[in-house]
Amino acid sequence: METKLFSPIQFDDVELKNRIVMSPMCMYSCDNQDGRVTPFHITHYESRAVGQVGLVMLEASAVQPNGRISYEDLGIWSDEHIDGLKHVTNRIHAHDAKAAIQLAHAGRKANLSDDTYAPSPIRFNDKLPMPKEMTLDDIQDTIQAFREAARRAKEANFDIIEIHGAHGYLINQFLSPLTNQRDDDYGGSLPNRMRFLNEILEAIQTTWNGPIFVRLSTAEYDENGNQLDDIVSIAETLKTQGVSLIDCSSGGVIPTKVPTYPGYQLPMAETIKHDATIATGAVGLITSGIQAEEILQNHRADLVFIGRQLLTNPYWPKQAADQLNTTITSPVQYERGWR
Ligand code: FNR
Repeated sequence: METKLFSPIQFDDVELKNRIVMSPMCMYSCDNQDGRVTPFHITHYESRAVGQVGLVMLEASAVQPNGRISYEDLGIWSDEHIDGLKHVTNRIHAHDAKAAIQLAHAGRKANLSDDTYAPSPIRFNDKLPMPKEMTLDDIQDTIQAFREAARRAKEANFDIIEIHGAHGYLINQFLSPLTNQRDDDYGGSLPNRMRFLNEILEAIQTTWNGPIFVRLSTAEYDENGNQLDDIVSIAETLKTQGVSLIDCSSGGVIPTKVPTYPGYQLPMAETIKHDATIATGAVGLITSGIQAEEILQNHRADLVFIGRQLLTNPYWPKQAADQLNTTITSPVQYERGWR
């Protein structure tokens, strides 16, 4: 069968051989609190490329040391991180997959003993530290840190970068009225709450000319938070700024429980794709090839991001191909077994 899941797709000059993305997943595996790639990261990401994932996306990587969720997070805040990251992209490219990295800052969700900051001094819960309210200088420094991180991503040969604007981390803290109570140009109206992200994109584009994805929390599960029509208008603006795809996740802004079931975030990916006319990524409990194919064929999203399934089975693409009665290219070493 001719499948859409295993058909190529183009973002600017980057062609993905299929529609399967390894969803970014923190591995909390750095040693010595230095944010550097370890042998574990290389094996972990390379094995998903061997498994024929089209786009292997590295976990949330901190653009500043105080933007880590934990001291074990991967980092991209220093030029010393470039060599290790380049090693990972080399190993991903060796298997004809493309490499992406998620650029992140945790803001008030940084579980660190250092000073943490956020748009407004509101704690996430009583276990995480009280963040300091960001000054205009802090805001500019952080925007420049995203720009420098994008430059390093380019030097490390990544094909695509994703900005982490979801799950209640720093960018999402600016976007949401639940966490942003500023009365300057970065708070209040939706255009003001979007300004931090808009300026990050402008800064990044002075040094990065490849495709940019943005992950958003498309539902905040609170009547006073952003609603789907707010997210559609954010997506429309991001499209005018040259963003290629909205990766449609949800939750994490405040401590609420996200109701999960197969495809729970799919209606948001579908609405944003059609209402903002921008490519979307679907994520969240997509577990089978049949389910992924349905999403793509019915134009509900353009890519499928696979998280936990790929943690349990690096060869999930092969399993999906079998479910769809199709054959896929295999690593040459595995050809006899995979036919
Ligand atoms: C995640 N998730 C996540 N999301 C993100 O944007 N950046 C990240 O670094 C992480 N880290 C992370 C670690 C682990 C161990 C898990 C399980 C999840 C969320 C992930 O990318 C995905 O959106 C969800 O797991 C839902 O997809 P699945 O797992 O149902 O396919």
